[in-house]
Amino acid sequence: SWTMLNIVEDAVAAVQQQIGPEGRAICALSGGVDSAVAAAIVQRAIGDRLTCVFVDHGLLRKGEAEQVERDFVAVTGVKLRVVDAADRFLKALDGVTDPEEKRKIIGREFIRVFEDEQRAIMSEGPVDFLVQGTLYPDVVESGGGTGTANIKSHHNVGGLPEDLQFSLVEPLRTLFKDEVRRAGEELGLPAAMVWRQPFPGPGLGIRIIGSVTQDRLDILREADAIAREELSRAGLDREIWQCPVVLLADVRSVGVQGDGRTYGHPVVLRPVTSEDAMTADWARVPYDVLSRISTRITNEVREVNRVVVDVTSKPPGTIEWE
Ligand code: XMP
Repeated sequence: SWTMLNIVEDAVAAVQQQIGPEGRAICALSGGVDSAVAAAIVQRAIGDRLTCVFVDHGLLRKGEAEQVERDFVAVTGVKLRVVDAADRFLKALDGVTDPEEKRKIIGREFIRVFEDEQRAIMSEGPVDFLVQGTLYPDVVESGGGTGTANIKSHHNVGGLPEDLQFSLVEPLRTLFKDEVRRAGEELGLPAAMVWRQPFPGPGLGIRIIGSVTQDRLDILREADAIAREELSRAGLDREIWQCPVVLLADVRSVGVQGDGRTYGHPVVLRPVTSEDAMTADWARVPYDVLSRISTRITNEVREVNRVVVDVTSKPPGTIEWE
């Protein structure tokens, strides 16, 4: 639409103004819509003087890393450095079961990898600007300050180091989420990215109850992909706020399949409706949709022999299990 076009064009002009004709910027992409739209706007403004960094921590869902590495780059022409850091994160998470400990480790490793990349990028010339996908509600929440590189850590992948000497570029700081999504469409970003439901920075790492291993990640990734596919196919993406799929990795239960007894793991479906994630209700997903998800997961994911649905509101439950 005319106004959306204006919002994008105005944002591009403002970034050009702020960064100037020579300045260079870096941006961490997470796979989410905010960092993607922010990066796409800055790319339009300064082209190759922006370098994006995508730290693949190996905890994303099926297809999400490819969305960033392939589709997003194809559409925007962004200059991207991809770091496949999955092994490093797995090693750091080895044996860890405590949720906050997992978050701390994932945040810490993210910062270390990002700092290495930053150093490599700065060896090609100075970088003075850091792009952030801060939205208007974040600005209000944090008191409206600007210009510092003091980034709140909670709702990002661990947050970025606080001692960086960067000026922040925040092209979305006057926008609400729905405006960011429309800007993303205007910029031609992949629909799956633009309309992605909330997904936590620590990713699947906090959806495995128990320690995180490659095998467990593979199981959860398959089960999650099936649940997402069936919910989308049923047209429930907008109605449902998000639907974590949780692997109870340390629980086994007896099942039967064909002639044989199985001893597999349960997964939990946690579909919720919500306005802002502060409170939530369990979503009344039609039985036939639940049935298809359950049948497909137990047929297609060998290690899972039971699918259960979480019918707890928030409060007292949280949306995530960890
Ligand atoms: P809870 O589980 O607290 O989740 O009801 C509320 C919303 O926040 C998301 N969430 C996180 N997002 N890092 C994030 O970036 C985190 O550590 C984290 N923990 C929860 C959750 O998916 C939901 O949308």
